[in-house]
Amino acid sequence: MTQRALYRPALQVLESPEAVAAEVAQRILRFVETRARPVLGLATGRTPLAVYARLAAAHRAGTSFAAVESFNLDEYFGLGPAHLGAFACYMQRHFFEQVDMLAGHGHVPSGLGDPALEARAYEATIAEAGGIGLQLLGIGLNGHIGFNEPGSDFDSRTRIVTLDESTRRANAKDFPEGTEVPREAITMGIGTILEAQRIVLVATGEAKSEALHAAFHGPPSRGCPASALQLHPCVELVCDVGAAHRLCL
Ligand code: F6R
Repeated sequence: MTQRALYRPALQVLESPEAVAAEVAQRILRFVETRARPVLGLATGRTPLAVYARLAAAHRAGTSFAAVESFNLDEYFGLGPAHLGAFACYMQRHFFEQVDMLAGHGHVPSGLGDPALEARAYEATIAEAGGIGLQLLGIGLNGHIGFNEPGSDFDSRTRIVTLDESTRRANAKDFPEGTEVPREAITMGIGTILEAQRIVLVATGEAKSEALHAAFHGPPSRGCPASALQLHPCVELVCDVGAAHRLCL
């Protein structure tokens, strides 16, 4: 087996989740403002909400996102874009509608239709856009990135996956009462994520400290999908003191 080089992330630890959001938003804005055709990879979840709020504020203050094309990491399988639990709906509300991105430039994998066809088409659209320049990532309590749950192959591509019960429990609060969290999702693969030129991983709160420790201490292993980030030479980890407290990088 050929030995692959391992890298450490460039770590920035800040006092509070607000300071983390401000820093990550600044990095995204610098990227958007300095590229002719900025291609972003985007995440959903609770952690990036404050980042999107800051990007929306930057737009109100004059920043244009008209040249941006974006690709979200994942979507629940079986949910249409108008479903309140769907990531497409989240992105519409928190980002796409808040800025001047062109119609059709904010891509979210479709949770409807044939997942194998959708997965292939999604990868092809990313390639046509020239690949992802900056990928924003969160991390799950179990170390997942996108919806690549523990056990995922490091060279996996966009595909349909079964969600861990722990992920379904953690995300239940984002669903309207009485609605079940879907059991499956379509997600960019770890191999797809690792092709981004630059990855910005954001984590806040002590609950994430164990997942970060598993990701960056010890050899990469399929048991912790985020540990695959050690194979990427350009990962920036921005977190608050709570999330960072078990890190020694
Ligand atoms: C979201 C995604 C997930 C989340 C992770 C953390 O698109 O792919 O990997 O980043 O579950 O979610 P929060 O931020 O809600 O803790």
